Amino acid sequence: MKKKPFFITTPIYYVNDVPHIGHAYTTIAADVVARYKRLAGHDVFFLTGTDEHGQKVQQAAGQSGKAPQTHVDDLHVRFKELWTRFNISNNDFIRTTEDRHKKVVREILLKLFNEGEIYQKNYKGWYCMPDERFWTEKDLVNGNCPECGRKVDQIDESNYFFKMGQHRDWLVEHITQNENFIQPKSRRNEILGFLKQPLEDLCISRPKERLAWGIPLPFDDEYVTYVWFDALINYISVHGHLEQIKDSGYWPAAHQLIGKDILTTHSVYWATMLKATGLPLPQNIFAHGWWTVNGQKMSKSVGNVVEPNHLIDQFGVDVIRYFLLREVPFGLDGDFSHKALIGRINSDLANNLGNLLNRTLNMLKKYFKGDLPNPDTTGDEDAPLIAKSAEVIKEVDTLYGELAYSKILAKIWEFLDAGNIYINDTAPWNLAKSDEGKKRLATVLYNSAEACRVIAILIAPFMPETADKMMEQLGIDTPVDKQSLDSIQKWGWIKPGSQTHQGPQIFPRIEDKAAAKILEAVTIGSDPPASEKKAEADDKGQITIEDFMKVDLRTAKILEAEKVKKSKKLIKLKVDLGTEQRQVLAGIAEAYEPEQLIGRTVILVANLKPVKLMGLESQGMILAGSDGDTIILGGFDGELPPGGRVK
Ligand code: MSP
Repeated sequence: MKKKPFFITTPIYYVNDVPHIGHAYTTIAADVVARYKRLAGHDVFFLTGTDEHGQKVQQAAGQSGKAPQTHVDDLHVRFKELWTRFNISNNDFIRTTEDRHKKVVREILLKLFNEGEIYQKNYKGWYCMPDERFWTEKDLVNGNCPECGRKVDQIDESNYFFKMGQHRDWLVEHITQNENFIQPKSRRNEILGFLKQPLEDLCISRPKERLAWGIPLPFDDEYVTYVWFDALINYISVHGHLEQIKDSGYWPAAHQLIGKDILTTHSVYWATMLKATGLPLPQNIFAHGWWTVNGQKMSKSVGNVVEPNHLIDQFGVDVIRYFLLREVPFGLDGDFSHKALIGRINSDLANNLGNLLNRTLNMLKKYFKGDLPNPDTTGDEDAPLIAKSAEVIKEVDTLYGELAYSKILAKIWEFLDAGNIYINDTAPWNLAKSDEGKKRLATVLYNSAEACRVIAILIAPFMPETADKMMEQLGIDTPVDKQSLDSIQKWGWIKPGSQTHQGPQIFPRIEDKAAAKILEAVTIGSDPPASEKKAEADDKGQITIEDFMKVDLRTAKILEAEKVKKSKKLIKLKVDLGTEQRQVLAGIAEAYEPEQLIGRTVILVANLKPVKLMGLESQGMILAGSDGDTIILGGFDGELPPGGRVK
């Protein structure tokens, strides 16, 4: 049977930028889906690349005394090399300076020009060079770029325009009728809001005398193409010229992953360019959030840009891949800190994942010399584990459709917990004591090994190296990317008789001392060490930003509320944190009726140690202000999705 094509893309990165965790984030996210879809039997095409034209590149090349082409030839390699280190499985890497791309850009320009979709006029307006974006007077915020806040340059020249404005009505309709076209929902609303204003035509040219580094317009070689009009076309130029794109089977893309800052260029410029060219729109554009570092925006001048190569050297590839997608729900902003990273390594990876594999292999070695035994009959005690496997596999598949990475991992970890509980409950060490018990022991260890195999396949898209190590230790020769999801649809695929062997710990714990050293070493820039800064701040009764960031404040949506019996003050709440639900007790019963609370978004202190109140556990605290007897819950004056960081 012919495999179903599946096309997924990342933005193409500005070749001048030093690759950082923000770039790695989108690329890893796309890689995970690409790997999963391959396991599920799709014909996957995963594309990434570099954006190599424009004023910034021309300037940087000039400063380094190189011809622009030499400059980009040298620089684009940094991205390629990083993707190799991160085990990114892209099928192609497109560069906008390649002929195959330039040809299609010129083909589309000529078509649109001949069809009257492009015209020339005098243009007076503003240009933000770092973002390579045009703005009108009314777009500016305090005279600066509305996107990045930087200074804009005034431009007054004759240019070519794409008739983008005429596309507004059908675009609004398309977005309204196709819920998945722009995700997450909050971003979709943002674009619908933007489209309430009249839509301007798009300036798509730059006079050559000011900017020579670009693709010459096919109908006027005094001009080069505006860098965004050029760059967006990469998503289709990779499939060949216009007729070939339709036949390739890969267009429209299933997912185009981007950061929230480039949503307008994708959902408005790109969508209207496609429509005018006669091509269908992508099925989904997903705009993820931005990473800050210890609560601050990443910036070269602050010196806090997290360099992925250093992280890989220190922690290994899979740890970083896991952390970035587990820590923050895709779509929300997130904060990177080494402390949070070490926390995840110790709790999720060493304690949970490492533990299940280790104890299974250890007992197989001890009781069966490493030979995987034949399972005896399956009993009542085995059923929950097997049922959990089926449930998790099914839910994970649904969650992939929503790109809910963090939820996918939480789900897989539910199965891991089930595996660890299974071993605790069946207590193989007791079974080993009697001959009768040994029969049962064979089944228990067979099932534990099978659980490890299912987990290896489920985590493979996120942690391919780990999955291969697990397979090897379980005695399975076939590398995981040659396997398929089919093998986990039915319990019991792993062959009795396989020779398992315990290797080194896949995720050793980072002990407190080592963690302290790492944290000291990564204290940002020329700041005094964290300990000194703290003493300084304490003197004045102040706290540092690091102190503040220790409090994990999150948006939480109240799902259920009921009064606690025998308590005058307490209300028991169930709140949604995006990736999990929590029970929280709040002393607000004298100020609010439970029914008033349901559906409200509140602020939760999410990393507070759980406490028991009136015999019930409270897993966090919600914030409220008070004045005498008056209590008012803290909140927001607009809608926010649950789970976002509050700072
Ligand atoms: N070249 C354009 C994209 C053209 S696509 C046809 C561009 N390049 S970029 O290198 O500046 O940014 C690429 C991506 O990196 C964007 O999606 C952007 O959102 C993302 N990130 C840059 N900094 C980021 C963070 N701090 N956090 C997360 N992603 C961030 O824009």
